Amino acid sequence: MNTKKQAYLITGATSGIGKACAYLLAHNGCDLYIVGRNREILDTMATELPGKTVPICYDLNDLENIKEIFDDYGINKEKLDGLIYCAGVDAAWPVKVNSISAMQEVMNVNCFAFVEMSRIFYKKQYSNQNASIVAISSIASLTNEPGMIAYSVSKAALNSAVKTMSKEFIRRGIRVNAILPGAVKTPMSEKKEKVFSEIEKTEENKSNIQPLGVIPTDIIARQIKFLLSDDSGYTTGELITVSGGRNY
Ligand SMILES: NC(=O)c1ccc[n+]([C@@H]2O[C@H](COP(=O)([O-])OP(=O)(O)OC[C@H]3O[C@@H](n4cnc5c(N)ncnc54)[C@H](OP(=O)(O)O)[C@@H]3O)[C@@H](O)[C@H]2O)c1
Repeated sequence: MNTKKQAYLITGATSGIGKACAYLLAHNGCDLYIVGRNREILDTMATELPGKTVPICYDLNDLENIKEIFDDYGINKEKLDGLIYCAGVDAAWPVKVNSISAMQEVMNVNCFAFVEMSRIFYKKQYSNQNASIVAISSIASLTNEPGMIAYSVSKAALNSAVKTMSKEFIRRGIRVNAILPGAVKTPMSEKKEKVFSEIEKTEENKSNIQPLGVIPTDIIARQIKFLLSDDSGYTTGELITVSGGRNY
């Protein structure tokens, strides 16, 4: 980050990784535009966080009106230094019961809304030269676990979007990277409690599944901060795994 006050748009800001990132950046003096569907959490965060925090209640399944996020909350007057795309939905079912409509919803939030949001972000009236885009993908985009058809496909598509955009957005010096975490301790992962308690139960399980254990959210938040900063100024188009030692 430069010495100038930075402004960031964060999706998935009401929970887990996005929320940890919002707290880290706000306490580092950044202006934030935070996106989620839970208005109560958004408003609480806007009150709690130091500095300017603009809450934006928006359902990212609505792909057609994403431009409103940029036009209706003052982003066009301030210009952003980064987009942090943490919104995501989990999905676990086998191919034999897959329906395209269920898969479509996962694709909307995990990939298509990111592409549309980045397309708008890239315009000169919304972002500064040399801004940075960080997407939270998943190590599941690289693995072949059964039951992950919708989730893994959505994250693999996200990876591909990141790589393509990194080549196109370089014209304005805008970098685009993805972080691919293993299991992170968040409300999303709590729903998979059984898997995570297995990881943490015994040393043997730990070394079989994710040897370094379940990842705290602030580790991912700090990685995001690095990718926003000048310290990563020559890093773009990268898919950065934070595997916790997991095989992939
Ligand atoms: N936790 C893990 O183990 C893990 C591992 C690898 C990758 N990831 C990825 O990391 C990202 C963050 O996950 P997390 O674990 O922090 O999840 P989380 O705690 O469940 O948070 C998900 C966030 O996404 C937002 N969101 C979901 N659907 C939305 C929609 N339709 N419109 C707007 N916002 C929506 C939620 O906001 P509202 O509830 O306010 O709508 C919430 O802020 C996701 O992309 C996930 O796939 C997580």
